[in-house]
Parts: sequence; structure tokens; C-alpha cells
Amino acid sequence: MTILVTGATGVVGRRVVAELLQEGRAVRALTRRPAAATLPGEVDVREGDLERPESLQPALKGVERLYLFPMPETAAEIVAMAVESGVRRIVVLSGASATEEEFGSGYLAVEQAVSRSGVDWTHVRPGEFAGNWLDWGPKIRAERVVRRPYGEAVTQPTHESDVAAVAAAALLRDGHTGRTYTFAGPQALTVREQVSAIAAAIGSPVRFEEQDPIPARDLWIQEGYPAEVVDWLFGMWRESAENPLPVNEQWASVVPDITGRPARTFAEWAVENAAAFR
Ligand SMILES: NC(=O)c1ccc[n+]([C@@H]2O[C@H](COP(=O)([O-])OP(=O)(O)OC[C@H]3O[C@@H](n4cnc5c(N)ncnc54)[C@H](OP(=O)(O)O)[C@@H]3O)[C@@H](O)[C@H]2O)c1
Repeated sequence: MTILVTGATGVVGRRVVAELLQEGRAVRALTRRPAAATLPGEVDVREGDLERPESLQPALKGVERLYLFPMPETAAEIVAMAVESGVRRIVVLSGASATEEEFGSGYLAVEQAVSRSGVDWTHVRPGEFAGNWLDWGPKIRAERVVRRPYGEAVTQPTHESDVAAVAAAALLRDGHTGRTYTFAGPQALTVREQVSAIAAAIGSPVRFEEQDPIPARDLWIQEGYPAEVVDWLFGMWRESAENPLPVNEQWASVVPDITGRPARTFAEWAVENAAAFR
């Protein structure tokens, strides 16, 4: 049985590939640039561009299961081609924000294309990736500082390896068909606590400087973040700083329930990624 992994060179995709190889599965990987893919030798690397569905035709041949990186604009066409070509199970990388009015529509479009297609499907909806804070790398390396508004905002960071483990389970095991898994990491941590975990991982103090949200908004936009994304994030963080929620136990239970082992902590993530902050 051949499994096609799209987004295979991505942070989650690489880990999905690794999980499948570990189980001895035949893995085919899609990338726009095979020469730069640096995937393990046993992976059948194929060129294809999710923005040009017809380019996936050769990669889909003989594939029975598919891990689908979300590309809303072309999802319906790609799913139709996959079904036509014999794919019987699709696992979608979606996001916990799929149900949010403002930023969920892209994920929902992909999910719906898959769930309406008649194949076995599972929607994998992780919350915020721990890896988002690799953005702090340059400032921590250069100045040992994180500058951000809403230091008391609480989030529940999700280790990307756990996202991959859930996706791999849904690809390989029974019992996940027709299920939507919304989940996150095991702990609710303030931004300050996340900065402290990184400091502990690199064995060096890191200052947290709380920014005033009004000038911070302009700064973030100057740095290249789209204004609507900044407003969405700042709105969530403000709400969370004012009304910090405890850990969402339902979200935290999904990784252990599905993978049979504890979800990885932010501290573990920080240790694994310490080189990015030293
Ligand atoms: N960050 C978060 O907090 C968060 C939370 C929930 C969900 N998500 C979702 O997770 C996804 C990111 O996953 P990730 O971290 O594994 O990916 P990533 O590290 O951002 O890498 C992007 C991957 O997508 C592939 N890709 C992009 N455009 C493509 C195209 N036109 N055709 C073929 N492949 C294409 C790239 O492959 P090549 O360059 O090799 O072609 C690469 O493998 C996003 O959709 C994001 O919305 C993120």
C-alpha cells in the first residue's frame, strides 16, 4: 500500500514521513523541488505543485492513502483526482481555528472537499504549533530578549511531532474514519512561561519585555505580518491575558488517547530546538 504525503518537506510533513517509514510503509512524497527535499533515501520523492492540480497526476498513480496539506483553492480538484485515481483514505492537516469565522474558511473548504468525496477521512485540527516561537530565535540569539504584548496571555502549544503522530495514526490504524480531532499540547502556559522554558533549554537568561499593544501592532505590520492576522492574534491574546483559561483537558487528551503515549511538552520542544535560540 503506497501512501502519498503532500507538504512532505514541511515541519509536520517530514514527521509524518518518518512515522510511516518507522512502520515499514511505502511512502511517496510530494514537493515542488525534489532536488532540495532532503528526505530519507527510501522515500519515493515526486515533483508536484498543489497549486497546479494536474501536476499531481503522476504522483497519485497507485496511491491508496493520502496525507493532504491544506491548499483551499485547489482542494476540491485534487480530491476529485485522488478519488478517480484510487485513493481510499485521506487525512487532512487542518487547524483548531477551522470553526472560526475569520480564519477558518480555508481549512473548512479543504475538510469539506474531503468529507464530501466518499473516501474514508479524518480531519486533524491542531492548535497553535510550538514552532511558531522559532520567530523569537533571532532576537533571543542576538539580544537574549523577547518583546511582545500580552505576556500573561495563555496558550496551549502543540508539538509538531504530536500533530504528525495523530495524522500517522489516522492514516494507518482503524477507528479514525469520519472523525475530527481538535487538540493541543498538554499544558496551558503564559508567554512569560514559554520564554522561561526556552531560557532553561539554552541555559541562559532571556528577558521578557512587554510591549504596549498599540505601537506593537504597527511594528508587527512593518515586520511583514498582515494587519488582519495581527489584529486576530492580538485580540486572542488580549482576551486570554484578561481571562486566562486553564488547560483545555479535552484538547490535551487527544494525543495520548490516539497515540498511546503522553503529549510532548513545550519544555521538550524547547530542548529539541535549543540550537535555534543559542
Ligand atoms: N502554525 C500553527 O500554529 C498551525 C496550527 C494549525 C495548523 N497549521 C497549518 O499547518 C500547515 C503548516 O504545516 P507544516 O508546518 O508542516 O508546513 P511548513 O513547514 O510550513 O511547510 C510547508 C509545506 O507545504 C508544501 N507546499 C507549500 N506550497 C505547496 C505547493 N503549492 N505545492 C506543493 N507543496 C507545497 C511545502 O513543500 P515544498 O516547498 O517542498 O514544495 C512544504 O512541505 C499550514 O497549513 C498551517 O495553516 C499551523
